[in-house]
Amino acid sequence: MAVSFTVNGQARVVDLPPEMPLLWVLREGLDLTGTKFGCGIASCGACTVHLDGAAVRSCQVTLAEVAGASVVTVEGLGQGALHAVQEAWIAAQVAQCGYCQSGQIMQAAALLAENPAPTGDEIDAAMEGNLCRCGTYPRIRAAVQDAAKRLSEV
Ligand code: FES
Ligand code: FES
Repeated sequence: MAVSFTVNGQARVVDLPPEMPLLWVLREGLDLTGTKFGCGIASCGACTVHLDGAAVRSCQVTLAEVAGASVVTVEGLGQGALHAVQEAWIAAQVAQCGYCQSGQIMQAAALLAENPAPTGDEIDAAMEGNLCRCGTYPRIRAAVQDAAKRLSEV
């Protein structure tokens, strides 16, 4: 079934099974491999992308469900430049192995779009579903605070 939707600002038509998870549509169908497979059961957050502006687990969304929608992946977050969250991540050297980080960044960007000045507790609450086996949580929290500051100065 051909499904039309927008990915990173570009109109795409994908002819794949409608029940295919968005995660695999992105990685296998569109070669956007920045979005990672971790658990496949909505328990790790590695596959987080934005669907019409909201952070979603792309392993739990089907191709049929994104018909007509706007999807943004880590490749398109900054629209050709680095997003403030990505700049903050680099400044804080957040990543260790890096595997969870695109999901972390997408979750953080969605948080700041909704709440531009989150408290530490609000950051922890928003990010708690994104697991990091390397334990980068303190740096993630600091980077989200830095990104909020950068966005407030734009
Ligand atoms: S791969 Fe989707 S939440 Fe883990
Ligand atoms: S940086 Fe390694 S899993 Fe998060």
